[in-house]
Amino acid sequence: MKIVLIGFMCSGKSKVGRLLSSRLGWPHVDTDEMIKSQVGKSIADIIRFQGEPAFRDIERKAVSLVSLMDKCVISTGGGVPLNPENMNDLSQDGLVFWLSVSAEVVLRRAGNFQSRPLIDPNNPLGSIQTRLDERNPLYEKAAQHRIDTDALTSDDVVEKILSLLPAAA
Ligand code: S3P
Repeated sequence: MKIVLIGFMCSGKSKVGRLLSSRLGWPHVDTDEMIKSQVGKSIADIIRFQGEPAFRDIERKAVSLVSLMDKCVISTGGGVPLNPENMNDLSQDGLVFWLSVSAEVVLRRAGNFQSRPLIDPNNPLGSIQTRLDERNPLYEKAAQHRIDTDALTSDDVVEKILSLLPAAA
């Protein structure tokens, strides 16, 4: 079995994934980190200079590779569920948790927009809300469990996930 974390940017997938993997003693894989080290560029630069469709192709390959792993925690990029093949692969023997977040909290946590090319700096809240409206139904469909992270710390989220794991994990 593996644990898969999905959700919008700034929902805490990477940090929660790291903490959870050390609690379980399982390896942690972060699809964005994997892509960065394979391509040798930041995610923001890949999207800016090669375009979002090219990034999605690279991401698709990374997801199909990590889906082969067992007993690990996988933190996904926020757009992974846009491609149904990604969720089809990840849900084979994967328990999927959606870390949900509101647009206001994304804006508060996002910090520097330079590293987040999908947020429009001229209309940050509106552009976040538009993407959230498009994505939330996909996250909901793909996940077995939803954890609303707005008022939770990463440690709180880890505890919730641990409490939801089957005894055999
Ligand atoms: C994206 C989210 C980012 C990264 C890329 C695209 C998205 O990951 O994969 O910038 O489409 O929501 P995080 O969710 O880890 O920020």
